[in-house]
Amino acid sequence: MTDAAPRILMCPPDHFGIEYEINPWMNVRQGADPARASAQWLALEATLLDLGVEVDRLAPAPGLPDLVFTANAGLVHRRTFIVSRFRFGVRQGETPHFEAWARGRGFEVVSPPEGMNFEGAGDALFCGETLFAGYRFRSDVRSHQWVGERLGVEVLPMELVDPRYYHLDTCFCPIAPDAALYYPGAFDEYGRSVIRARIPTLIEVRAEEAQSFSCNAVVVGRTVMLNRGAPRLAEDLERLGYATRPLDLSEFIKSGGSAKCLTLRIDGEEAAAWKAGGAGGSP
Ligand code: ARG
Repeated sequence: MTDAAPRILMCPPDHFGIEYEINPWMNVRQGADPARASAQWLALEATLLDLGVEVDRLAPAPGLPDLVFTANAGLVHRRTFIVSRFRFGVRQGETPHFEAWARGRGFEVVSPPEGMNFEGAGDALFCGETLFAGYRFRSDVRSHQWVGERLGVEVLPMELVDPRYYHLDTCFCPIAPDAALYYPGAFDEYGRSVIRARIPTLIEVRAEEAQSFSCNAVVVGRTVMLNRGAPRLAEDLERLGYATRPLDLSEFIKSGGSAKCLTLRIDGEEAAAWKAGGAGGSP
């Protein structure tokens, strides 16, 4: 147990919708239902509050339907906030909102150099001290190299090969400093070998369960919140001593996101619940 409560940034889905198509899950003719999206989002928030998480709410903004996906705000490391540089123009208007929020919370805000795309904690996840990073569909491999140097951490870039799993957090989720779950089909042989060589305890998620976005999980201590529809994964997690909280986030899957995408750990992604006292403290 950490002394301080875990802290997570979320953004209410007041302006959420499917208004463009930038990943294979999105279809503008299959819009999201605002009432259902709101109920699903509130259920996720309530689950986090119930676990003792402090939820920081970012103000929603019209015209930015994907602002709800705060995992893409940036990458938090101790007091540094590396703000995202989105690949697609339709999401670039989110950056000033995330940046203003981070400054308001006292982070040192750093932008990746122009010309490098970097989509934050959607594509860069600490497992222990090492930053696992996904590239190709959104973030550039060079951005990860730059982030590693800027933070002084070891970074392991892995290519994502399936457009349905376009962000690393759709197919890989650290659950402890030495444990993670992942969907092997989203990586090439090299990426799989990196994961297998570097993480001692691994849960392999089956294709049909990865499809229900179950890898997009939020871990708080020994509890894992994940999209429902992954009973085998839930069993595997329970066998390792985790409690699971299945959630229905179907409205957000229409946009290509689920539980993890809707959250950003702000007391340090690298702290993610498992380090007593946290490596960096909270702002
Ligand atoms: N519609 C959003 C996009 O395509 C979904 C983002 C999901 N976020 C995530 N961290 N995987 O950019």
